Amino acid sequence: MVSPVLILFSTFLFHVAIAGRRMWPINTLKCIPRVCPFAGILENGAVRYTTFEYPNTISFTCNPGFYLNGTNSAKCTEEGNWSPELPSCAPVTCPPPPVPKFATLKTYKPSAGNNSLYRDTAVFECLPHHAMFGNDTVTCTAHGNWTELPECKEVKCPFPSRPDNGFVNYPAKQVLLYKDKATFGCHDTYTLDGPEEVECTRAGNWSAQPSCKATCKISIKKATVLYQGERVKIQEQFKNGMKHGDKVSFFCKNKEKKCSYTEEAQCIDGTIEIPKCFKEHSSLAFWKTDAWDVKAC
Ligand SMILES: *[C@@H]1O[C@H](CO)[C@@H](O)[C@H](O)[C@H]1NC(C)=O
Ligand SMILES: *[C@@H]1O[C@H](CO)[C@@H](O)[C@H](O)[C@H]1NC(C)=O
Ligand SMILES: *[C@@H]1O[C@H](CO)[C@@H](O)[C@H](O)[C@H]1NC(C)=O
Ligand SMILES: *[C@@H]1O[C@H](CO)[C@@H](O)[C@H](O)[C@H]1NC(C)=O
Ligand SMILES: *[C@@H]1O[C@H](CO)[C@@H](O)[C@H](O)[C@H]1NC(C)=O
Repeated sequence: MVSPVLILFSTFLFHVAIAGRRMWPINTLKCIPRVCPFAGILENGAVRYTTFEYPNTISFTCNPGFYLNGTNSAKCTEEGNWSPELPSCAPVTCPPPPVPKFATLKTYKPSAGNNSLYRDTAVFECLPHHAMFGNDTVTCTAHGNWTELPECKEVKCPFPSRPDNGFVNYPAKQVLLYKDKATFGCHDTYTLDGPEEVECTRAGNWSAQPSCKATCKISIKKATVLYQGERVKIQEQFKNGMKHGDKVSFFCKNKEKKCSYTEEAQCIDGTIEIPKCFKEHSSLAFWKTDAWDVKAC
């Protein structure tokens, strides 16, 4: 350790002369270390210190998004100043982000001159018929670079195939690309199972594969059923047949309890299974009460 700088307490200096001999009385002399200017605060950062006295060293760190403009430590010198000079924390900036191939910048606003600040974002968009892989948003990091850029790729879809008993329309082009659309329809009595319109996806396939499903013929001559929560006469409601997917509830009798309950049946591609509990009376058996006229169980 270098010896401390002597600071003499001058009030006593010239009064001290004993028996012609000049000497310093030991207990009136004091050595105190030189103190450097206060350096306890670093804007956007932190200072580590014990005291600001010679010959101590203090150290500096900056908050995320800031870098040290200067050294990470300084020492209090014999002269009572800091060496090297105290640093500052300067904001990290990112240069304008590079634009990936087949992409454009959709949202970007430099906030520090031509550059961006920590946590600023930029948003990319792909050119038409190109799909994005990765995140469309990049963020300026504390390292002064951007987070990983997305990729834009051209995506092709095969020509969609025509469904049995139906048709498909799509753009008359050499190749079908991402976001191109195709529309489906069915012939006369068939019903489309799936969406009418499908889209070429980023995976290079179509968003759905609709098909055409047959209508169910109703073999029952007379019955009241529940259809979409309403009582309807099946032969009137479905005189043109039941569409694929349609559901009705038949009334059945519980003989012991003399009451009625319902069982559901659905038309699936031309076939409907009538619940076994449903009994159709002969038109001559007019004295019999139909299940749908019996009180519910
Ligand atoms: C870095 O510090 C130097 C000297 O103190 C100053 O001139 C300069 O402007 C600072 N740079 C930034 C980016 O703050
Ligand atoms: C921004 O960039 C332009 C073109 O490179 C340059 O002329 C201009 O001085 C820059 N502005 C700042 C604030 O750096
Ligand atoms: C994209 O990144 C941002 C932040 O960088 C994040 O908030 C967002 O959830 C990400 N989006 C997806 C789809 O991963
Ligand atoms: C940004 O820079 C840091 C530090 O140099 C590095 O580790 C990181 O991989 C870089 N990020 C990207 C996306 O390039
Ligand atoms: C399209 O392809 C993806 C990936 O291979 C697959 O997960 C998805 O189920 C497919 N979509 C359809 C509608 O076939």
